[in-house]
Amino acid sequence: MTPYDATVEDALGKLDLDAKTRLLAGRNMWALPALPEIGLASLVMSDGPVGVRGVRWTADDPSVALPSPTALAATWDPALARRTGHLLAQEARRKGVHVLLAPTVNLHRSPLGGRHFECYSEDPHLTGAIGTGYVTGVQEGGVGTTVKHFVANDAETERFTVNNTVAPRPLRELYLAPFETIVKNARPWGVMAAYNSVNGPTMTEHRHLQNEVLRGEWGFDGCIVSDWMAARSTKGAIEGGLDIAMPGPRTVYGAALAAAVRAGEVAESVVDDAVRNVLRLAARVGVLDGAPPAVAPADLPAPVDGAALAREIARRAVVLVRNEHRTLPLDPSAVGTVALIGAAARDARVLGGGSAQVFPDHVVSPLDGLRAALPEGDLTYRVGADPSDELAAAGHGFTLRAVCRDRAGRVLGETSLPNGAVQWHGDDLPAGVTHEELHTVEITGTFTPRESGPHCFGTKGIGGFRLTVGDRVLFDGAEVPDHADPFEAFFGAPVERGRAELTAGEPVEVGLRHTVPDTSGAPVQAVGFALAHREPRRDAEELIEEAVAAARAAGTAVVVVATTERVESEGFDRTDLRLPGRQDELVRRVAAANPRTVVVVNSGSPVELPWRNDVAAVLLSWFPGQEAGAALADVLLGAAEPGGRLPTTWPARLADAPVTRVTPDNGELPYEEGVFIGYRAWQKAGAEPAYCFGHGLGYTDWEYETATYAAAAGGADLGTVTVRVRNTGDRPGREVIQLYLAVPDGDTAERPVRRLAGFATVQAAPGETAEASIAVPRRAAEIWDEQAHGWRLVPGTYTAETGRSLEDVRLRNRVQVGG
Ligand code: BGC
Repeated sequence: MTPYDATVEDALGKLDLDAKTRLLAGRNMWALPALPEIGLASLVMSDGPVGVRGVRWTADDPSVALPSPTALAATWDPALARRTGHLLAQEARRKGVHVLLAPTVNLHRSPLGGRHFECYSEDPHLTGAIGTGYVTGVQEGGVGTTVKHFVANDAETERFTVNNTVAPRPLRELYLAPFETIVKNARPWGVMAAYNSVNGPTMTEHRHLQNEVLRGEWGFDGCIVSDWMAARSTKGAIEGGLDIAMPGPRTVYGAALAAAVRAGEVAESVVDDAVRNVLRLAARVGVLDGAPPAVAPADLPAPVDGAALAREIARRAVVLVRNEHRTLPLDPSAVGTVALIGAAARDARVLGGGSAQVFPDHVVSPLDGLRAALPEGDLTYRVGADPSDELAAAGHGFTLRAVCRDRAGRVLGETSLPNGAVQWHGDDLPAGVTHEELHTVEITGTFTPRESGPHCFGTKGIGGFRLTVGDRVLFDGAEVPDHADPFEAFFGAPVERGRAELTAGEPVEVGLRHTVPDTSGAPVQAVGFALAHREPRRDAEELIEEAVAAARAAGTAVVVVATTERVESEGFDRTDLRLPGRQDELVRRVAAANPRTVVVVNSGSPVELPWRNDVAAVLLSWFPGQEAGAALADVLLGAAEPGGRLPTTWPARLADAPVTRVTPDNGELPYEEGVFIGYRAWQKAGAEPAYCFGHGLGYTDWEYETATYAAAAGGADLGTVTVRVRNTGDRPGREVIQLYLAVPDGDTAERPVRRLAGFATVQAAPGETAEASIAVPRRAAEIWDEQAHGWRLVPGTYTAETGRSLEDVRLRNRVQVGG
């Protein structure tokens, strides 16, 4: 029962079959149709998860860009995740968005997963806790969420068709677990069904998991939305529990669903159930007349300063994994000169690629951040090595417009472009333009280079292209698709088409005429292409030598190393964990020249750091969002502590990682490792990672003084461990107290030797103590019984291990379970 039942029934009763089935399908890329006859406005959805892009996929409608989900999880702070939700709801409201397509709570099954940066953790408990905070926060702001991607969408290769075969135990104990926690604790208003199949049925048609488990067992009363283009069959999807097929207008619902009902293939009552779910969602977000929104305007959270929150999360997320001789924090009064090195120090990688992308109105690079924080003259900057060989959408120095023409060359409409990328979905086209009439899009404008030399120009996307620079035609031809992923045009690599010798400061005319491919048969009509560019490349050896010289002359060298958009993005998996280009060599040579070398790793997920024991300090900054450099300066100079702890095991070498298979064979990807992923697998293999799960140093020291365990008398928890820690260092700090439950000695169940059971974050001033009580959930001692189809508590004498990380256990308590 929800307070909306009467209103929903009333509205449902007024709709005929055509209206009902129309409501279950997108009317365009992001929205459902309005049904004025029942006072229903169009319900708008948008990605998610690090910001709210809005219905336009361009930089002219900027959004606050927060750090990557891996970063949020590295804070181990559900309360911060909840505040993140408040900001996102505020952003959504500002952009007219009712449902945020987030959070992504698939697991870090393998470090090669392309969307690893977009998921929280390898651990279902941490994922569930952060996801609960996030969903709670967004919904407290009156905006819906779609927890995604339900379920087992843990890699990208063949994501539309792969059948992941997952035994019931890992499915329950790992992959479903975060969804279960979030559904039970945060009551999300939506869930997104994944592209992939699980043990046969594709997820949008998975009656068992959607109807029986999600709705039946867990009591989910929200709406299930398909991932974009994931719904494939009318009858299969509606009977499998899928409520909304996105995007539209061409979907398996709408007219096709009405026809299936009329033909007697689908019962109208099944359609009614889906419509009820959609109407309930509409009521909750306040777009159904007569239903007060779930959150009254007066109860909305206080306004959030987006830039300040982005900076706070970014610095709280930084994981200090190494800090020899207390190199960090740098003492601002005694630091001397700093040599800042790395392409990403100037052009920071602030977010990962794919649908999670948003367009912030500014980015504070590490160079900007340190420039602002250090006295003038104390900072030198050198590129050192550029990890990217690729062209990117024309940006710096370009002033561009797009003119849209029909087949006869008549101008239909035009618009200015903030950069060289055009991404128009559905009806999001410049005024006067329709997909039916649109034939060519011409990007025209000027480019004023900041460097002299050979500039590369290119194209991204599918279709015909004519590229001109000055009076030269660099390319006139067509690009044809060679990839099955329909989003390749958006996420694919740019192609270099030619070079032009240009002079710094001298403007040149540029033009790219694009003949739009026919998308009339596609589910979504979209125009997506880009004018791409790359600045002249300097000699790689010279760049490294310059950086080494700068490092030698400086008091401290700070090297920012990074991955690129071709390494971490939706749409494909990674093939290795190496830093691209000559960055490893750069670090080694800089470290050889200056013993005070600090390396900042700007990647959303693990990379190999073969030099990690040869440098003074290593900080992992993840994709730090728009305030990247400000947060980094805070942490380097000690204005704030790097508060992060690893939400995922960081391998020394890919070869050591226990689960690396992400490529299906004949369409099948067996999860043959069972319940052993992440640290569960590392511990089983007895293998040594570079940095273990939970690791992170901070700037102060902690002593774990006492831990006491009190058993509970039944209920969801076995008991509670109360821990007292003392800050024994000389500065205030924040500690993440971690609690792992280790199995009894001689345990015979095939299960991980320990698992994260709980955690708490405390703060204390130097010399002070802080206390936390951490519940030990029953689930930590349960396994899914595949014969009995239920949870089974395994009795025995367990050990509650409290400490600073998986491997840095400070105190132990006996936990008697059963018997
Ligand atoms: C992604 C989803 C996303 C959707 C809409 C899909 O390709 O898998 O995570 O929400 O696109 O952009």
